[in-house]
Amino acid sequence: MRLEEKSYLIMAQNSSEMLVINKLLNKNNIETDLVPAPPEWGTVCAIAVKIKGTDLETSKNLLHSSGINNAKILEDRKLKLQGLIDKKLGLMVSERFLEILKKIENGDELQREEIIYLLSTDKKREIDAIFSAADRIRKETVGDVVEIRGAIEFSNYCRKNCKYCGIRGQNSEIKRYRMTEEEIMEVVAYLHSLGLRTVILQSGEDPYWTMPKIINILRKIKETTGMRITLSIGERPYEEYAEFKKAGADNFLLKIETTNRELFKEIHPDDDFDTRLQCSKWLKELGYINGSGNIIGLPGQTVEDIASDIEFFRDMGINMIGIGPFIPAKGSPYEKLTPGDIAMTLRTVAVTRIVCKKVYIPSTTALATLSKDAQVWALNAGANTIMLINTPKKYRSSYNIYDNKNMVDLEAAVYAVRKAANRKLPSYLKLPSYLENPDFDFAAKQEGML
Ligand code: 5AD
Ligand code: SF4
Repeated sequence: MRLEEKSYLIMAQNSSEMLVINKLLNKNNIETDLVPAPPEWGTVCAIAVKIKGTDLETSKNLLHSSGINNAKILEDRKLKLQGLIDKKLGLMVSERFLEILKKIENGDELQREEIIYLLSTDKKREIDAIFSAADRIRKETVGDVVEIRGAIEFSNYCRKNCKYCGIRGQNSEIKRYRMTEEEIMEVVAYLHSLGLRTVILQSGEDPYWTMPKIINILRKIKETTGMRITLSIGERPYEEYAEFKKAGADNFLLKIETTNRELFKEIHPDDDFDTRLQCSKWLKELGYINGSGNIIGLPGQTVEDIASDIEFFRDMGINMIGIGPFIPAKGSPYEKLTPGDIAMTLRTVAVTRIVCKKVYIPSTTALATLSKDAQVWALNAGANTIMLINTPKKYRSSYNIYDNKNMVDLEAAVYAVRKAANRKLPSYLKLPSYLENPDFDFAAKQEGML
């Protein structure tokens, strides 16, 4: 293979060195991408800096002249998979599908029409083959461990009015709350005691939480626990994103929700598609591990729209992709609409894994809300992370972005990981002893029998 076609991964000793390397290269006009590190390197630093083959020598020199000598560089090989197709399968699926599967085996980039085919085929054999390809790719790119993160929904005030959302500003039927700094820190301490490494701070777009207030909480979390921090607080000016990064935020979740501009406008009366896009680009530029995602089953959304979303995630180099079904929310204009389809959501998870490869894909809370086992299905369809909801009980029911929201707790997460095929809980997780018992009866507990 020629150098132009190759890419390389630079593996740092830790996350701050990784960011220093990333900045250094960008400053010298070398394009980089932050991608999850291959599983065997995961314990050193979870994120690798990806560069093009043609930039290899310059990058090496830059690292050397800046005194960074410990970073390892390895070739990022195209992911080749053997054994996706056997003779029997070849006879049972369409010619077209077989061609696509060959491209997947070969690690070649799929075209838009091919993505659409994968999302829309209704042949059982083909669907099975899509899910098993996704599961293989998940295993080879991010391994068997299901990363567990803890989320705190620290304010449900929102200045916006997204039509699907239950906490939109104009919904007067819900009780509004803001957690105090002490309350937030209490939950952070609990998550830390569980051994979790990442805390997610999520809220509506709440003007009360100004930049200095957010910075304050970021610093406190870093100082007391050293945990990685994911912010999910919506659109903010570039300067604020930059300051949050400096104060210790590592990741940012800002979902595009849909890449269909008209649909985006329709569901977001206060938002502008280009602004959302700009924010996402800024986050990337600033070195955040960049999260996006979409909602499946929005009114009028087509399979073509979903294919465009997946292409967007790939082309933007998105690192975390949250894919959830639309769920009607009381007090919202979409209250009476039908929920998104679980099967379509799972198919989107699988095709996203096939197309985007080395990314974090959560088994979303929205899926868990529609069915108790949907989180297990998503783990089997390419997902590799679970987010626990740790908002204090007295506030939880008020963070109803949609109805009957499942409060995925530690038990639910352990249940999903144990029930999914051949998956592992992370070794950093410190389980309470009753959950360490692999035979713990979750069903009985849920029904109040234990
Ligand atoms: N159905 C599904 N997802 C929703 N979200 C908000 N409201 C709904 C809903 N009714 C999702 C959005 C948002 C995230 C915080 O929750 O994708 O980004
Ligand atoms: Fe606010 Fe987010 Fe809900 Fe939109 S989706 S109304 S920005 S909380």
